Amino acid sequence: MSLRSRVDAFFRWVRLRRKAVDIGQLDKRIAAIEAEIATALTDLTTVDAVRGLDSSVLGRTGTLGTLIATVKDYPPGQRGHVGKTLNAAKGRIRAMLNDRLGQIHRADAAAETACARTFDPTLPGVCESMGSVHPVTAVQWEIERSFERLGFTVEAGPEMETEYNNFEALNIPPTHPARDMQDTFWVKSDRLGSGSHKCVLRTHTSPVQHRAMLKFGAPLRVIVPGRCFRYETVDASHDTTFHQVEGLMIDREISIPNLIAMAKTLLIDVMKREVELRVRPGYFPFVEPGLEIDMNCQICGGKGCPTCKQSGWIEILPCGMVHPNVLLAGKIDPDEYTGFAFGLGLTRLAMMKYGIPDIRVLNGGDIRPIVSPARLGGPIILNHELRTRNYEAALNEDR
Ligand code: FA5
Repeated sequence: MSLRSRVDAFFRWVRLRRKAVDIGQLDKRIAAIEAEIATALTDLTTVDAVRGLDSSVLGRTGTLGTLIATVKDYPPGQRGHVGKTLNAAKGRIRAMLNDRLGQIHRADAAAETACARTFDPTLPGVCESMGSVHPVTAVQWEIERSFERLGFTVEAGPEMETEYNNFEALNIPPTHPARDMQDTFWVKSDRLGSGSHKCVLRTHTSPVQHRAMLKFGAPLRVIVPGRCFRYETVDASHDTTFHQVEGLMIDREISIPNLIAMAKTLLIDVMKREVELRVRPGYFPFVEPGLEIDMNCQICGGKGCPTCKQSGWIEILPCGMVHPNVLLAGKIDPDEYTGFAFGLGLTRLAMMKYGIPDIRVLNGGDIRPIVSPARLGGPIILNHELRTRNYEAALNEDR
């Protein structure tokens, strides 16, 4: 035997000796693996999880799989014993995994049967809440439909207006005391091409009167729903942001009876019930004569409450015959045409229609008092309990 062969044989003998020593540890190692698997299995509740454990233990690179791959390294005399020991362990582990799989299958089947037994196909399903249009929008759409039937077109105007359109074109010159009636937010901007004129967040929808006259001339029938802004102290019936609907009708021989008839028809049409209206003189520089049409407060029935400031009436529809200066500013001949205009308080009308005692409900972030599931398909349903609970405190403050 050459020296080289002898050295090789020596090292083979050393390796086999080492294995022979290690074999004493094999049983302990197998017992530890089985204990780990038994513990892990109690936490596994799905078939996939058990299969994952199976391959991490019995797979070629798994904890037991790698031990099985080393059988060939044992001395020939021990290979049989080691192989049998490992195969027996593999069988026990496989049985543990199969047991757990069986338990999981049985539990799944039982759950399915229980579900099938308790499922009642005759019960109504669970509906998702889909929301609904805002009360102000709902009333606006109703008004638009009514006026479109009467031959009016629906116009819009910018929420940021020139000072000229908001005031001067409506016969309110810079030094006029009527400017104090509508304190506003001034905006530094020349985006409307206002030149030397300042811009404002419009205080009313009336500037669109001027825009409509220039755009369409006479005769003219328009309504203009839109958002307005005022620098106001907020209370139950005043907010800094609110909605109006402007109405303007210009033609030959338009008179006050036309105006009052139109206003009454509009309010009764929207409210869809008998309401009391009162007409009294009002002052607005852009109409002559000017009127105020008030509605009896629908919150307290006219007895007096914070919403109507204890007066029993709500200012809802100021109006009047268009002032000749406004017609002239709109390039319409006041000797040939007359007209009426009104500025309906849309937000307040929605409050009256749906019995909302506080304007802050409509502009607030809490939609629960004003939404209804659209699936009902009916009119907006207001949650009276929430409405009262949320705003009781605010109303008490106003008192
Ligand atoms: C005006 O704004 C006039 N432009 C209306 C007008 C148009 C008169 C055409 C004549 C001809 P007044 O400031 O009163 O008017 O506002 C009209 C309506 O808007 C009020 O009756 C009220 O219902 C509503 N309103 C006014 N201020 C607020 C506010 N701060 N919060 C909620 N609603 C308001």
